[in-house]
Amino acid sequence: MLTVVGIGPGAAQFLTLQGHNAIQEADILVGGARQLALFAHCRGKTRLLDSDLDGLILWLSEHLHQRVVVLASGDPLIYGIGKRLAACFPPEQLRIIPGISSIQYLCAKAAVDMNDLWITSSHGREPDFAAIAAHQKVAMVTDNIIGPYAIAQALLARGLNPTLIIGENLTSADERIHRLAACDVAKTYAMNVVVILNER
Ligand SMILES: C[S@@+](CC[C@H](N)C(=O)[O-])C[C@H]1O[C@@H](n2cnc3c(N)ncnc32)[C@H](O)[C@@H]1O
Repeated sequence: MLTVVGIGPGAAQFLTLQGHNAIQEADILVGGARQLALFAHCRGKTRLLDSDLDGLILWLSEHLHQRVVVLASGDPLIYGIGKRLAACFPPEQLRIIPGISSIQYLCAKAAVDMNDLWITSSHGREPDFAAIAAHQKVAMVTDNIIGPYAIAQALLARGLNPTLIIGENLTSADERIHRLAACDVAKTYAMNVVVILNER
């Protein structure tokens, strides 16, 4: 059986009990180096997750007789590996355990309701800035190429100056949450999620 566990934004108390139990019982844990380090005390063997997703899918299909757990940051189905796994394995072979997304966590910390929230990503992709500008409330996972500064500049160039809520290193000891007008956004931030409030 293949299980993908959403481990939440990072700190252990944000992992669900169901996710925790699946990880404890796993024969093999699959994840990035940072994620595997969080569960170094577990009994399972480990397999590093790299950029070769085709190789991973093949390997997973050969290990379905074992309890394999793939670790996903936040929630597996919010810009995570869950989409690819769900496309490759039928529901009777794949169990998806949800996690608290970094977006959900930031909204809770900043008391922003998620009704009508539009979710998108600049993680490894060029986001659709026209769509971002057209929505009242947007949440984005980012990467270090298109992060808060690039997002703010793209919106300023469209004549907008929305409020950006930037959540850095969420749930870690270095967590920082900033609420800024786009024109005040700094050039660099650590790993982050951004909520954009386009006032009308
Ligand atoms: C591949 S996406 C995965 C998103 C994840 N599935 C989720 O629901 O949060 C990776 C991006 O999520 C965001 N992220 C994940 N964990 C974070 C954290 N602890 N603090 C800030 N951003 C985080 C960052 O934008 C990071 O580049």
